[in-house]
Amino acid sequence: SSSSTRNAIKTVTVVGGGLMGSGIAQIAAQAGQNVTIIDLQPELLEKAQKSIQNNLVRVGKKLYKDDQSKVEAFVKDSVDRIKVSTKVEDGVNADLIIEAIVEKLDVKQELFNKLDQLAPAHTILATNTSSISINEIGAGIKRKDRYGGLHFFNPVPVMRLLEVIKGDHISEETYQTFLEWGKSVGKTCITCKDTPGFVVNRLLGPYSAEALRMYERGDASKEDIDIGMKLGAGYPMGPFELADYTGLDTNKFVLQVMYEQTKNPVFEPIPLLDKMVAEGKLGIKTGEGFYKYEKKSKV
Ligand code: NAI
Repeated sequence: SSSSTRNAIKTVTVVGGGLMGSGIAQIAAQAGQNVTIIDLQPELLEKAQKSIQNNLVRVGKKLYKDDQSKVEAFVKDSVDRIKVSTKVEDGVNADLIIEAIVEKLDVKQELFNKLDQLAPAHTILATNTSSISINEIGAGIKRKDRYGGLHFFNPVPVMRLLEVIKGDHISEETYQTFLEWGKSVGKTCITCKDTPGFVVNRLLGPYSAEALRMYERGDASKEDIDIGMKLGAGYPMGPFELADYTGLDTNKFVLQVMYEQTKNPVFEPIPLLDKMVAEGKLGIKTGEGFYKYEKKSKV
């Protein structure tokens, strides 16, 4: 049989059922794969299941228009493919395990060492980290040939890109499996070395930072900068709309990490951003960032 059938991923475990993990689980289940979500807290697993169910209804309605029974069958079939557990042991029997837990090196390393010990030999491991070195996260594992980065974008079911990050020891077979799997869940893959920010964030970081400084200096209003980049550069959101969407705390964190890793002065701290984060103006999630928002009621 061809290598593509030999490598085909049928079962996926996602460790971390938060914003990113639940999206990754959703697209895998939608693609017909069996999925297990692992999270430390049962409440978060419940929340993930609810948000996946709601998103699938939306996707189903788009796919099947007014055919209510087809929508229901699509949602049910996808949801039925998702199991959840609080114990990582329940998820190790998978073809692919994707980590989407808290962005802390030691916690990730500990998880990968455990997964490496418990998972069968054929299992491929991947991290969805945005800002930590792939090689560092996998430093303690033995299966370095069956390991790499799969970096998704928020919201996972909507954003079409997947960055496939090659660690120093990834095998050609694992790399090809990542590409095939990415395609199977509907993403367009690009490849990047294990370098700070990978492709997209490495370029978006300086852009956002310069937008903030421009506003801080009073060169232009934030509204005009946003309009400028939408109408002049064809971006779907302006830099301040994007910052509010991503969260100002996340922006600050990313700048900080990028500065530590590259020492490029463009990533130096921005007083305006630090002030807003200190004031709890984090963007859409807190109801106010650069703009004000209706507070979303928790479902
Ligand atoms: P989140 O905070 O929404 O979700 C993280 C989840 O992991 C939480 O539900 C938490 O309970 C769980 N968790 C923490 N430690 C765990 C452990 N040891 N075992 C099992 N579960 C554990 O975070 P989010 O935004 O989903 O980010 C997750 C990862 O994805 C991070 O590495 C982040 O850098 C990366 N990422 C985030 C993006 C974003 O836009 N938020 C974009 C691309 C990557």
